[in-house]
Amino acid sequence: MSTKTEFASKIGLIAATVGSAIGLGNIWRFPAETQENGGAAFLLVYILCVLCLGIPVMLAEFSLGRGGRSDSIGVFRTLSPGKPWWLVGVGAILAAYLITAFYMVVAGWTLEYLYQSVSGGLYEGIDNAGGSLRELFSTRMDDYISTDVPPLIFTFLMIILNIAILLGGVQKGIERLSNIMMPLLFVILAAICCLTLSLPDAGAGVRYFLEPDFSKINAGVVVNALGQAFFSLSLGMGILITYSSYYPANTRLGSTSLTVSLLSILVAIMMGLVIFPAVKSFGLDDEPLRGATLVFVTLPEVFAQLPMPRLWSSLFFLLLLVAALTSTVSIAEVSIAMLQDRFKMKRTWATLTVLLPLFVFSTLCSLSFGSLSGFKIAGHTIFDFLDKFSTNWLLPLVSIGVCLYVGWFAPKNLLRDQLSNCGTIRSRTTGIVLFIIRYIAPLLIAAIVIFPLL
Ligand code: PFF
Repeated sequence: MSTKTEFASKIGLIAATVGSAIGLGNIWRFPAETQENGGAAFLLVYILCVLCLGIPVMLAEFSLGRGGRSDSIGVFRTLSPGKPWWLVGVGAILAAYLITAFYMVVAGWTLEYLYQSVSGGLYEGIDNAGGSLRELFSTRMDDYISTDVPPLIFTFLMIILNIAILLGGVQKGIERLSNIMMPLLFVILAAICCLTLSLPDAGAGVRYFLEPDFSKINAGVVVNALGQAFFSLSLGMGILITYSSYYPANTRLGSTSLTVSLLSILVAIMMGLVIFPAVKSFGLDDEPLRGATLVFVTLPEVFAQLPMPRLWSSLFFLLLLVAALTSTVSIAEVSIAMLQDRFKMKRTWATLTVLLPLFVFSTLCSLSFGSLSGFKIAGHTIFDFLDKFSTNWLLPLVSIGVCLYVGWFAPKNLLRDQLSNCGTIRSRTTGIVLFIIRYIAPLLIAAIVIFPLL
């Protein structure tokens, strides 16, 4: 009888996996990518990438996790002892840890903005700002993010919150958090969606987002959509390997991957239906929707022009906080599971060993917007360097490694056994999934790495 920890319920394992997948990637990266890559045409290619490539690669990670029943390094050691494949797991853990360091800072900003929305600080003086709301919120963003102390305090609070949840373990920490937070996320998002869709001229934004202009599709759009699909499904970070090692033997991997992917697409679409109608309605569509500006300048500008700005703003930043929190716990869990499985550490020690050093690493990332902004590694601030190195290089390389391993080198029938729960259920799609993992996914993922270099 295996003593490996498992999720307690089917709902819980879906909530936790969806919670990991739905993060800042869906909420702010997706609308920005959509705007830069031609609107609805990008949405279409993104959905195709999730369904045709994302799901097979997710199934490869699930097969590894549940087949190997260990952490991201341990699965390779268990399934192919004595072979160097465990290095793929090392890459996943490195990516996960680097991402944790800078994502914690962004998560801290969401907490800071929630606090400033609830306390009203963010909207102080909007009545006298006249036409220069953009300036007001840009200055506020500088005050809240590009200074040393306030963002650090909120980043530290986020680390402490993560420690408190992760000390609870898989069932009492991660699963309980996700069971409460994920329904909350959908309710808040639906409420904000209803609000933005009822704004005057919302239809123009909806048309931009949903009526594809096929002439906009080119190689660059496809590569970006693929990158977005992989990031938003949390592929290549060891998260899905780690979480699926907690899946019970009777979990249907096929339907789980479909549910997680469809919910992730749904949130991205709902987010598009929040952003595009809102910016069109207030004539803000000339602003770049890139990352932080979209969330911390453009959206407060929208909220400031609505009745009850503090209420809507608080709800939105609560939504962002929920998305960030269920993602940070999942990515920190990758390293915690590794310490528990590799070094037989107790949960408490493993959690503290992973999270306490973040007080230093995340501080360095946070200060790269303040007094360390002049400190550059290969021309990038510390924050940008970690972001670029992990998302542009490590994640795709790990995904290629996972595909090559599961497709060609894993014990025979790993994928087939896992998709059919060792022959107890029917899985009609194994052949096509294997074909994609073997021949298509590695090449297309390599394109994500190579294309920007051309
Ligand atoms: N799918 C997640 C997202 O879209 O934000 C990816 C992720 C990033 C998960 C960072 C966890 C994390 F810490």
